[in-house]
Amino acid sequence: MAARGLFLTFEGGDGSGKSTQVALLTEWLAEQGRTVVHAREPGGTELGAELREIILHRRGYIAPRAEALLYAADRAHNIATVVRPALESGHIVIQDRYLDSSVAYQGAGRVLDPAEVRNVSLWATEGLLPDLTVLLDLDIETGRARLDDSRTRYDRLEAEAAEFHHRVREAYLGLASAEPGRFLVLDATESVDTLAARIRDRVSELLA
Ligand code: TYD
Repeated sequence: MAARGLFLTFEGGDGSGKSTQVALLTEWLAEQGRTVVHAREPGGTELGAELREIILHRRGYIAPRAEALLYAADRAHNIATVVRPALESGHIVIQDRYLDSSVAYQGAGRVLDPAEVRNVSLWATEGLLPDLTVLLDLDIETGRARLDDSRTRYDRLEAEAAEFHHRVREAYLGLASAEPGRFLVLDATESVDTLAARIRDRVSELLA
């Protein structure tokens, strides 16, 4: 089971700047001559793209447990077909969102039991945990304002009320304090360059 590559995940709410930091880290790793494989959930595979369309854009109600299982199905397929093969080849996988998203959004947001949600994901992925999870922490109002500049329509999760997103943020912070060794929590209001440097420092330690 021991994977040889490095599995790095990025988490955070709307407008937290994950994509910018993923791009900067990728650029830096490429300069070091490392092969980086990008992955994302939901929707990082062909099957995942179909699931993503249902999860985020289907009109009408989706029961919370069904939603949790749809994310888990996307995750199972992504890990089996993209992430594990890349790790086994010794590559660095940088993934936008992983199981912590499910624990935060489906657990705290939809109010399912967080431990059960996590266990479903661990079953789906045969227990794969990231080597490092970068949490870009941002208050909901700032994140939403950033998003409003670039969005004309919201997906099913983004459209949830502020209260939902506050619970998600608190859940993320709780997860990070429960696993301080795996998480790097950053204040997403810091400058892009400062954030990038902190992430590079941590990744350098892992590569050393
Ligand atoms: P994503 O496309 O990554 O959106 P963003 O641009 O905000 O990163 O994810 C879409 C939505 O899915 C996002 O609002 C978070 C949500 N989500 C869950 O609720 N559970 C999950 O397990 C994952 C991976 C995402």
